[in-house]
Amino acid sequence: MSKLDLVIVLAAGDGTRMKSSKAKVLHEIAGRSIIENVLAAVAPISAKNTTVVVGADKDAVVEHLSTISSKIKTVEQKKRNGTGGATQIALAEHSGDGTVLILAGDTPLLTTQTLQEFLDAHHNDKNQASVLTALLPDPTGYGRIIRADNGLISKIIEEKDATDSQKEIDEINTGVYLFDLKTLRQVINDLQSDNAQKELYLTDTIELINKSGANAFAILSNDYTETLGINDRTQLAECAAIMRDRINNQHMLNGVTIIDPTTTWIDTEVRIESDVVIYPSSAISGKSIIKSAAIIGPRTTLVDCEVAEEASVIESFATKSKIGKGAKVGPYTYLRKGTLLDNESKVGAFVEIKNSTIGKGSKVAHLSYVGDAQIGQESNIGAATVFVNYDGENKHQTKIGDQVRIGSDTMLVAPVTVGDGAYTAAGSVINEDVPAGAMGIGRARQVNILGWVLKKRKDSKSAAAAKKAGAKE
Ligand code: UD1
Ligand code: CA
Repeated sequence: MSKLDLVIVLAAGDGTRMKSSKAKVLHEIAGRSIIENVLAAVAPISAKNTTVVVGADKDAVVEHLSTISSKIKTVEQKKRNGTGGATQIALAEHSGDGTVLILAGDTPLLTTQTLQEFLDAHHNDKNQASVLTALLPDPTGYGRIIRADNGLISKIIEEKDATDSQKEIDEINTGVYLFDLKTLRQVINDLQSDNAQKELYLTDTIELINKSGANAFAILSNDYTETLGINDRTQLAECAAIMRDRINNQHMLNGVTIIDPTTTWIDTEVRIESDVVIYPSSAISGKSIIKSAAIIGPRTTLVDCEVAEEASVIESFATKSKIGKGAKVGPYTYLRKGTLLDNESKVGAFVEIKNSTIGKGSKVAHLSYVGDAQIGQESNIGAATVFVNYDGENKHQTKIGDQVRIGSDTMLVAPVTVGDGAYTAAGSVINEDVPAGAMGIGRARQVNILGWVLKKRKDSKSAAAAKKAGAKE
């Protein structure tokens, strides 16, 4: 049985301090929106109902929430009259009693463990209201906790309403609360906006609960970094760095070598097996999977990629691609959507590939573009080959068989097929199929005009060198 009947996430605020055209809670940290991080921390506690209060950039936020879970209910706060106003609307839409967890949609570093411990303490102590608090090195901007005896809070004072001596208090309100629903309902509509921001403060319910004869307790969290809120872009960067360290530490504890954790950015949903080595300035994002003993980086970005065992990807950028076992990529390779590199294949410097399969053991080692192609096994694509896949209106396919040798600087004009074991001559434009075992040549025959330099560039250094080599007019 869940001990939690309702979760309310407050996310209607305008996020003015972000100076952004999109809602604050949609900005991302480690590949997930800020609010998705909050909801992911809450999810394992399995509340019976989850309500998100939306307002600013409402349509985008509602749409985003629908991609996270179909069970999330949203209510709209049309007039942004404060966290108390937002809570009133959420409570009006919910009947029933029990326990409610209220938190802000802008605190993405909270962990399930901290929330669970907070919930356990609230229930074990039979509290009617609990506030999760933290001791901050710099409490500026947060609501301050005015304590009473025995762990009780008498009230919470917002920074803008605080006296100088209250501002000295370094215990702050994290914006995470647990209430007995009945107790909260008794006071929620009595909030007044007689404060510096002319808003209904959810924090004022604490004083009202005390006056009603019930008790509110402060529960101090032991890691203040979890409770940091994001209000502007500097805080966004601070929280992202803390999340980065958290994720990297977890991978290192699982047996991944990260040479420079401060320049390695790995998204939350990435999976990495042991003995992978990640060199500096690399980013692994989306739902990427990196299998054991692969080597990533330096300076490599992988977005939604799968890298198999013992493969290496060096100084490269890849998105939505699969890299086979023992395959070698880079330096300076660009792999686009739909690239499949089979086991032991090799793709080298200044090669771009999209929507193509490179067969087992095949090589595209230098300066080539491969688009919409199927390449068989152990074929070699010479330097500066271009798969000419676009006729200006449509894209076409190229098929290359097994054990093929494509000469350097070949233009393969699609649609075209090169059979097993065939060759193409360097510098060819191949626009007709080359049968298995044939040599395809598509270029003008070479002509040498003997003595041309001696006649036309008489006094040049080239003419002197040619003469010395025995050339005659
Ligand atoms: C709030 C707390 C403060 C606490 C801090 C912790 C109040 C009055 N103050 O301040 O004590 O230290 O969080 O991070 O609650 N929101 C709405 N509707 C509104 C206004 C806000 O849904 O009308 C949402 C925002 O989207 C945000 C959350 O409530 O997710 C908190 O609002 P914010 O303006 O960031 O409050 P703080 O000033 O940070
Ligand atoms: Ca905030």
